[in-house]
Amino acid sequence: MDQLDQLVAQAGIDFAAAADGAALETAKARYLGKGGSITELLKGLGKLGADARKAAGAEINKAKTAIEAQLNARRDALQQAALEAQLAAEALDVTLPGRGASTGGLHPVVRTLERVEQLFRSIGFDVAEGPEIETDFYNFTALNTPANHPARSMHDTFYLENGEGVLLRTHTSPVQIRAMQAHVEAYKDRPAMPELRVIAPGRVYRVDSDATHSPMFHQVEGLWVGESVSFADLKGVVADFLRSFFESDDLQVRFRPSFFPFTEPSAEIDVAFMSGALKGRWLEIAGCGMVHPNVLRYGGFDPERYTGFAFGMGPDRLTMLRYGVNDLRLFFEGDLRFLGQFR
Ligand code: FA5
Ligand code: MG
Repeated sequence: MDQLDQLVAQAGIDFAAAADGAALETAKARYLGKGGSITELLKGLGKLGADARKAAGAEINKAKTAIEAQLNARRDALQQAALEAQLAAEALDVTLPGRGASTGGLHPVVRTLERVEQLFRSIGFDVAEGPEIETDFYNFTALNTPANHPARSMHDTFYLENGEGVLLRTHTSPVQIRAMQAHVEAYKDRPAMPELRVIAPGRVYRVDSDATHSPMFHQVEGLWVGESVSFADLKGVVADFLRSFFESDDLQVRFRPSFFPFTEPSAEIDVAFMSGALKGRWLEIAGCGMVHPNVLRYGGFDPERYTGFAFGMGPDRLTMLRYGVNDLRLFFEGDLRFLGQFR
């Protein structure tokens, strides 16, 4: 029965070599399948005499049982290995430190806007809002800038196809008109109308892009209308605001004569620090002037009786100056390495 021992030993080797279930089944067929060695031996028993058949049959069955036992052991081992591999692949290392909840922070420009609002509220200004999708009338015409006025070309913008004369506003100045109209309406049945003092922060849009210009940027409009508002008030309010905003007297402010259709006279406001990283670099932060009589009229105010000043500031530029940032587009790229520095 050397032959049978050899067969059992060979089956053990073949099963051990089978690397997965399919290979194991193929190996099994060689011994126990229809044409397998053990099956063939059992078929051959018929040719033997009764005694010899009994003895040989018992030996062959013993070998068959041994082969089956090896087969089952290998099957179990393969299953166990597969399970272990899966567990290893899906392993969760509970000792790893957590990712942590990152605490968000306010965008630096939002910080500026909140600061601007707080400072103007403290001197009696309300906060007004207007739509970012504005009509041609409020964005231009009511601001003394009729169709074909050359000043419109400096405010190239995104005109929306659906809707007559609807565009993305190019400045917050249309809120001047809306605020004046709302104020006049609110007090029309009252014996007296108080002064109008508002700021209007918000997003505006232009076809602009360089280190100090972004196609979407922010402005804060300011408007003060009353019976004796003068250019001196404008200068005082702006200078006080800037000193409070930057918490510094180390600041030069200059009113540079300019032109806007909706103010007369008009100026641009430039700021430079006398020390620090941006020392001596003038940056324009606002346009301003005395509200044009035509604009007062569109707002519902009698220009014979009322005067007012207005300004339109760039809070993105204020943020550049406050934190010493040299490219304004950084504020809008959403890079957390940059934004994370302002928390
Ligand atoms: C205006 O938009 C006028 N509406 C301002 C005004 C209001 C004048 C009321 C008189 C009375 P200007 O185009 O200069 O003006 O823009 C005002 C400020 O917005 C600029 O001084 C600058 O600080 C900022 N600004 C303008 N364009 C951009 C831009 N593309 N990106 C970032 N800031 C800008
Ligand atoms: Mg300007």
